[in-house]
Amino acid sequence: MRSSSKVAKIGAVLVSFSLLCLAHVAATTEDFDIKEDYEFPEAFKFGVSTAAFQIEGAWNEGGKGESMWDTYIHEHPEYTLDHSNGDIAADSYHKYTEDVKIIKDLGVKYYRFSFSWPRILPQGTDNKKSKDGIDYYHKLLEELRRANITAVVTLFHWDMPTPLMDLGGWSNPKMVDYFLDYARFAFEEFGDEVKIWTTMNEPHQHCYNYCYYIFSVLQSGTYAHYMLLAHAKAYRLYEKEFKPRQNGRVGITLDAFWADPKNSTDPLDIEAAERYRQMRLGIYAHPIYSNIGDYPPLVREIIDTNSRLQNFTRSRLPVFSKEEIELLKGSSDFFGLNHYTTYLMSHPTINETWTIPSWDHDTFVRMEQNLAWPIPGADWLSVYPPGFRKLLNWIKNNYGDVPIVITENGMCDFGGLKDYTRVSYYNDYLYQVLLAMYKDNVNVEGYFAWTLLDDFEWTDGYATKFGLYEVDFDSPERTRRKKLSADNYRNIVEKRKIDFDYIKQPKMKKLPYQTPEEENTV
Ligand code: BGC
Repeated sequence: MRSSSKVAKIGAVLVSFSLLCLAHVAATTEDFDIKEDYEFPEAFKFGVSTAAFQIEGAWNEGGKGESMWDTYIHEHPEYTLDHSNGDIAADSYHKYTEDVKIIKDLGVKYYRFSFSWPRILPQGTDNKKSKDGIDYYHKLLEELRRANITAVVTLFHWDMPTPLMDLGGWSNPKMVDYFLDYARFAFEEFGDEVKIWTTMNEPHQHCYNYCYYIFSVLQSGTYAHYMLLAHAKAYRLYEKEFKPRQNGRVGITLDAFWADPKNSTDPLDIEAAERYRQMRLGIYAHPIYSNIGDYPPLVREIIDTNSRLQNFTRSRLPVFSKEEIELLKGSSDFFGLNHYTTYLMSHPTINETWTIPSWDHDTFVRMEQNLAWPIPGADWLSVYPPGFRKLLNWIKNNYGDVPIVITENGMCDFGGLKDYTRVSYYNDYLYQVLLAMYKDNVNVEGYFAWTLLDDFEWTDGYATKFGLYEVDFDSPERTRRKKLSADNYRNIVEKRKIDFDYIKQPKMKKLPYQTPEEENTV
């Protein structure tokens, strides 16, 4: 639901098309018939990802403070599709030993999860700390160490402490200091156990989709600026004060849908697609990964021009000082990338209903899905594996040989253990990663499946399922059960190859997407 609200607002054509699709996921994509027998290199890092708010539950235990998601959803149950909240979620706070066990069963050597900022610092500021919250993460890290699994910790995966959100969240420059204090504490307290950090998960989605559209608490514009500065300061802090003795790496996770021009020969559509990429990904990536630093020139030009036309005295996009440009340039040891889907972009020809000013109006593209691409679950996620390879190439072409860690990739449906569609999704998307590595020389260092467990999917609540493991949200035990996609992923990790025949869908009664009941009786 997260992006559907957005897409609806910009007038895109979104039609749930699942039942009409007659082809298997793979059969809808190019480059699929001839499969080379590529291998993932020995050093390639395979992992699974989760996020604190989506699985932990225990929303008010052990002295935890409230995050914006606790507060807003308690006040407005209607913000989620099923009127649910994250109070218990998958209850990983109590079931973390079981969760480490299933991660180990998958054979992956890396686990990416996030710290809940208000579980550690209940008010968001570092004058008050929760001993129980800190102990919880030490216990989880110890469990991972014993299972020989390397922790990859995200400091901020959207659960902003409510008292800080009340101050305006990322549109308030003071957030840079609060984040830095939190990061310093995390590095000091956990830095001997955690050697791979990411500062933030998907700044774009957090601000644009949730804070702006759903919760209406942020104005469009300035947040990118302060999130970037907070990230860069945390990176430099680690580099100077912690790296010499802790010897870890710090990065950031950015997200992007791939954007293809709707009409690949129309210059206006080609421009629209590139405008979208720059406004969505370039705005965060260019200051960090480009050789010249700062915002992409196109983004600067668009927002400055629109600000002038909208009678602002100064641009809505703040200006980095020379020192800040240098601070940001190179402030990441890898490119954390989350990718799920592709959209078709065209130059708008009808009156769109965008708010002015807004990110949508600045970006000025019409977004559509290709109706030939399957949509197995939430309406924003259609399956088009080649978009992944194109995105990886775009990153390489713009930012050179930076090591890319795919920190999230996965697919949602509406449940069922025999998740053949998810098996195909992983096979087909991972194959595109191999093509990018072997044919295009893109430097991909690792891959994390999203996600270990069915979880609280933000405004979808528990309606859509991304997990390799099912969670029974009706049982007090929150029982976990393995899906076929977990077996398939384990096989890929073990063999370091994709075996497209490993799990084959038996003759389907109804192509290609079945209800959970049907899936389980095939
Ligand atoms: C987020 C996850 C989310 C996933 C699927 C990503 O944008 O980082 O938290 O669950 O998408 O919606």
